[in-house]
Amino acid sequence: MRCARRADRSAPSWGRKHDQEIVFTFGGTESDKSAILSALETQPGRNRIVTSAVEHPAVLSLATYLQQSRGVDVVVVGVDGNGRLDIDAYRAALTEQTVLTSIMWANNKTGVLYPVEELAALAHEVGALFHSDAVQAVGKVPIDLAASEIDMLSLSGHKLHEPKGIGALYVSKGDVSKGDVSKGDVSKGDVSKGVKLKPMVRGGRQAPGARPSGGNGKCVCDRRARCGSRNRPGPDG
Ligand SMILES: Cc1ncc(COP(=O)(O)O)c(C=O)c1O
Repeated sequence: MRCARRADRSAPSWGRKHDQEIVFTFGGTESDKSAILSALETQPGRNRIVTSAVEHPAVLSLATYLQQSRGVDVVVVGVDGNGRLDIDAYRAALTEQTVLTSIMWANNKTGVLYPVEELAALAHEVGALFHSDAVQAVGKVPIDLAASEIDMLSLSGHKLHEPKGIGALYVSKGDVSKGDVSKGDVSKGDVSKGVKLKPMVRGGRQAPGARPSGGNGKCVCDRRARCGSRNRPGPDG
């Protein structure tokens, strides 16, 4: 408990505006999965997910599963020979049926950085949410979530000198004055952030209903303390 309180004081801010925007998970994989499944529930009338061909399997295998099992319309945007996203194809994939786009911040194989803020702004123009798998970016590139268009962002402990089995998902609480996405209160060009995370498993009231179970207290404590020091490179540079 003492440890948890100390860690809370040194928790990472990354410029976030609200408390309770960070939900601890078992890793990047769970964070990605929670983000995508939650987004699908925010606007049941929309059925398209846009992602890229170079996403981690945590995103791509879930997208394939959702396509095959739930009939989700998944558009996988390609990259060029240098690993850069085909922005024209990305734009073309965005329609009023798009509920979410999920594009990583930094690629785990090539190190290519993606223009996530620009991509998020484009997604918002059609009323879609934007998620970024930032597992390979957090600790390596500056991140200021208060000024960001990003609605949800995944990270993983073992890229930040933590053990495997701990991660987090940032979920923007957004600007409540603009409406509430979780109530379908979204109009084109005026996407309110404010995603309500849907728990993947049912249980207690830990992490106010976002993720039941007591979690791995020691890892959460260590992770929060470590994340207090910004821009620290992960184990693979
Ligand atoms: C880009 C990216 N996303 C997701 C993951 C999965 O993270 P985890 O192993 O914490 O589930 C990884 C793991 O290396 C990764 O590189």
